[in-house]
Amino acid sequence: MALPPTVQWLPREPSVFIIDQTLLPSELHQVHLRSVAEVAEAIKVLRVRGAPALGCVGAAGIALAAVLSSAADTESLCAELAAAYEVLAATRPTAVNLFWALNHMRRLWSSWTGDLPGLVAALGAEAQAIIDDDLQRCRCIGRHGAELIPDGGRVLTHCNAGALATAGYGTALGVIRGAVEQGKKIHVWADETRPLLQGARLTAFELAADGIPCTVLCDNMAASLMAAGFIDCVVVGADRIAANGDVANKIGTYNVAVLCRYHDVPFYVAAPFSTVDFALDRGNQIPIEQRGAEEVSQLGGFSAQAVVPKGVEVYNPAFDVTPAELVTAIITECGVARAPLGESLRRLSRA
Ligand code: MRU
Repeated sequence: MALPPTVQWLPREPSVFIIDQTLLPSELHQVHLRSVAEVAEAIKVLRVRGAPALGCVGAAGIALAAVLSSAADTESLCAELAAAYEVLAATRPTAVNLFWALNHMRRLWSSWTGDLPGLVAALGAEAQAIIDDDLQRCRCIGRHGAELIPDGGRVLTHCNAGALATAGYGTALGVIRGAVEQGKKIHVWADETRPLLQGARLTAFELAADGIPCTVLCDNMAASLMAAGFIDCVVVGADRIAANGDVANKIGTYNVAVLCRYHDVPFYVAAPFSTVDFALDRGNQIPIEQRGAEEVSQLGGFSAQAVVPKGVEVYNPAFDVTPAELVTAIITECGVARAPLGESLRRLSRA
């Protein structure tokens, strides 16, 4: 079964059309987001999530703001776009792809010298180009990464870095898809990924749709699997990579990287260059999103069944930072970066 695209820009509706990921795996339902406020809400509650997908939906949100505007001249439109930028930028702080895409759009409107309808059309075309480009980058990541995965490989992943987290194909799951397309037999072990279960709900869903064998485990089971020799490598995505190669990704990724070091299992990160933030020297400068207590205190995050007594404090950072020294390689659309990761990333980014 082929999944519909994660994010579509529909200029004629006009709307941003997404899969509502909060309903998966029970329901595959697409929703039209018809205002910047609806786009922002969808990002905040994770109807659409995953770093590259946030870039795509952010760009489409700006295109939507332009189409909906009744501004009489480019100057007034630019003021409205700047306001839309602020609303979208205030949604989630960690994935740099959102800011990368928003800044891309802002460069376009702030350097525009043509007329108003031309700018509206150009912003729509740019949003579409960002979506198309992300899909191509993921396919390249898949081709480069596939070389690292052995035939018969048993690959553990954390969270969802798949088609649902990108314009399609995925980063970490793109590597797995690339290996499968090379004819390799692959088995995926998917961490359920507490608290919102992106691994159980989303990774397992899209792998099942593709017919790629997958087993879901609770996050606290990976150590014993590795000790038993059942994992050949780990591939995860990233929300932001600092210039030195430190990697922010879904909370729990760091635990997996530590386990890999102890058990001598390669730990790979797959991400496009839109995820690399060369402006930050180290991972401790990456802003980490703190999310609501109910995501931990209620079962599955979205349901109402309490699993923590009322009044008890809850800790819920959405991401953690894995130090570069624990990362075996970063798989990008331009090739594979290895230690020293900072130097290697800079070299690849110029290639
Ligand atoms: O909170 P989420 O679901 O947006 O977190 C997503 C992740 O951590 C992914 O691993 C990351 O964005 C990479 S997606 C290709």
